[in-house]
Amino acid sequence: MHLTRDEEKVLAGEEGGGRQKAMELLVALGDIFGAERLIPVKSAQVSGASFKTIGDAGIQWLEAMSEGTRASVPSMVNPLGLDMRRWRSMGVSRDFHDKQARIVAAYKSMGLRPVYSCTPYLAGYRPRRGQHLAWAESSATVFANSYIGARTNREGGPSALASAIIGKSPEYGLHLDENRLPKVEVNLPSIPEGLVPLAGYLVGKTAGNRIPLITGQALVEDEHKSFGAAVAATGAVSMYVSAGTVGHRKASDIDHSMIEERVTISSRDLRRCAEELSGGDEWDLVAIGCPHSSTRELGHMAKRLKNRRPRKDCDVWFCTSRMVHSSCPQHVATLRRFGKVLCDTCMVVAPIEEMYERTATNSGKAMVYLPTLGRQKASFRTTDQLLEAISR
Ligand code: F3S
Repeated sequence: MHLTRDEEKVLAGEEGGGRQKAMELLVALGDIFGAERLIPVKSAQVSGASFKTIGDAGIQWLEAMSEGTRASVPSMVNPLGLDMRRWRSMGVSRDFHDKQARIVAAYKSMGLRPVYSCTPYLAGYRPRRGQHLAWAESSATVFANSYIGARTNREGGPSALASAIIGKSPEYGLHLDENRLPKVEVNLPSIPEGLVPLAGYLVGKTAGNRIPLITGQALVEDEHKSFGAAVAATGAVSMYVSAGTVGHRKASDIDHSMIEERVTISSRDLRRCAEELSGGDEWDLVAIGCPHSSTRELGHMAKRLKNRRPRKDCDVWFCTSRMVHSSCPQHVATLRRFGKVLCDTCMVVAPIEEMYERTATNSGKAMVYLPTLGRQKASFRTTDQLLEAISR
């Protein structure tokens, strides 16, 4: 990879050991993927923020990286393993909290912003079409590429942090036009109410590592959020193409020339998938907000629950970002009658396996990770089915 004279100096350690380590990481990545150069990024979004996922080794690595280094572009942090204010009521241990606090301190000392959300684009850090980014969270990456039309690879936590520090990323993959072309067309003629996350779940499985072109029923922004998260969870893909998004305003923007397969996912396929993922009817926890809920989603749920009473058969988590939480205190007050409205964390990166065994969710992405990372017996239900179940 060609480096500028300034980049060579950073690599030689002339700007300190932390920046040197970050540059080494980016150069190694660029060499592996055949990048010709580094390009500036507008922002970074760093995953690997929960103690549950990075452990003691991760803390040590972060603390070493943080010595003398600062982020040089706006950089946000993904969800933590707990809500920094409400962790006691979640049932998280003091030991876990203290380890988590060291991770928070390391990121803070590097100047990363305490967003602690997988939806930074709803929390004040919305990129623009065409901007290059170094984002790590898979659901945020797919949203930025597909809905907004920004350009980012699905970074790992360390490479996103290296980009935060250097302000650049190797130019390969989804930064380049030729790698943003759809290879498989998936038609979704009609999606039953509440099953958009499962449409994403099946599209990801169908697409594998190919960028899908989505045709059929148009989705609204919140639906793109849950759809894309599931696509990126079941597929090895960080982008889809569809008409009507900010990234592709018109159907005529879309290049069909590379399509090698056409598939239809019918409403019957989606109902069958819902049946297969339905699991049991008894739950310890109902978890909503993967990806983190938007103000509109919290408003929809608050409206549905306003004149109902809590059933209290199981715990309920509504997960969102700090920014969204503080934007709608009335919705939050309504939802708090039914469960905990949590910020900074989610049902997948919190140590849920230490507290619960059976979790129901409305998220296609969470249906992939709850049984594995969370060791849960997971049940899929639509949002409205879950709201019905937790109230009377
Ligand atoms: Fe976000 Fe956690 Fe889901 S990070 S996308 S809420 S798994």
